[in-house]
Amino acid sequence: MKHYTLSAPAKFILFGEHAVVFGHPAIAMPVLDLRAHVNLIIDDTIDDPFIDAHDLGCQAYINRADPPLAVRHMIEAIRLVPKLGGFLLPQKGWSLSIESDIPIGRGLGSSAAISVALIKAMYTLSHTSLTTEILIYLSYELEKYHHGTPSGVDNTVISIEKPVLYQRGKDIMPLDSELFYFVIGDTGISKSTAKIVAEVAERFNLHTHEYSTIFQAIGNISATGYDCLKSGDHHRLGDLMNRNHLLLRQIGVSADELEHLIAVALNHGALGAKLCGAGKGGCMVCVAEDESAAHRISDALLLNGAVNCYVSRTLVRS
Ligand code: MEV
Repeated sequence: MKHYTLSAPAKFILFGEHAVVFGHPAIAMPVLDLRAHVNLIIDDTIDDPFIDAHDLGCQAYINRADPPLAVRHMIEAIRLVPKLGGFLLPQKGWSLSIESDIPIGRGLGSSAAISVALIKAMYTLSHTSLTTEILIYLSYELEKYHHGTPSGVDNTVISIEKPVLYQRGKDIMPLDSELFYFVIGDTGISKSTAKIVAEVAERFNLHTHEYSTIFQAIGNISATGYDCLKSGDHHRLGDLMNRNHLLLRQIGVSADELEHLIAVALNHGALGAKLCGAGKGGCMVCVAEDESAAHRISDALLLNGAVNCYVSRTLVRS
């Protein structure tokens, strides 16, 4: 029997969510110590490969018709990836179990992280070499299959595990960053990204000129944010986060619970804060002056309604 663990990180959007769907740049950051794990077991005694989705309390056989709803998207992914990748999985002798630390529906990329970890597991199982480019391509296909019209930012940052400046149709730019401490606060409210993206698209069609101007302003913030990460300018980065949040509010994707946590963070010394991801619930993120400030802000958020907080440290020199 052999056992492999393949994993992928969570992410948060530092700048540019929603605008990125309309072709503007966004900056996304991996959260390296919050991860989805796929355990691949290779065992000759397994005649009928199965998947055990531990967190969902659901087990199902991969090759049987009508898989339970809770794991249907994972089983569809397991069927689709070999077709797209041009390889075959063994008929028997293996199973997968999935565990994720990433909360579902909170804008932290849980579905893209599971897709990326599953793709890595299938390539390991079939002894096929996997490049980052193929990983990004396949994870994007799975995101499209499950979520309609994703921009591609989530699966890209989760595949490369580095901060990235992402713009549809342009080369992916992994970016150098000085040391920053971010605090992510979870409202505990799960939302469907696909639904919120579709609602924003409807409003865009009704108010095209106003929304285009807002998205352009958000895109400019992402471009400036890129310089702040490189130069380590914490105060300017915080200011940009506040400005990005006001623009997100204008397109109707904030929520009272997000506004509350953002106010708590700013009142406890955060240099800037915004919602992150699709919004309407999910998470907010703020930037702290240093590590001890980050932990103070995290404690304050937990005392004031956040169901969870994650302190994410960024230091990448590519
Ligand atoms: C989701 O993390 C970010 C959105 O911009 C959607 C997308 O880019 O696909 C809201």
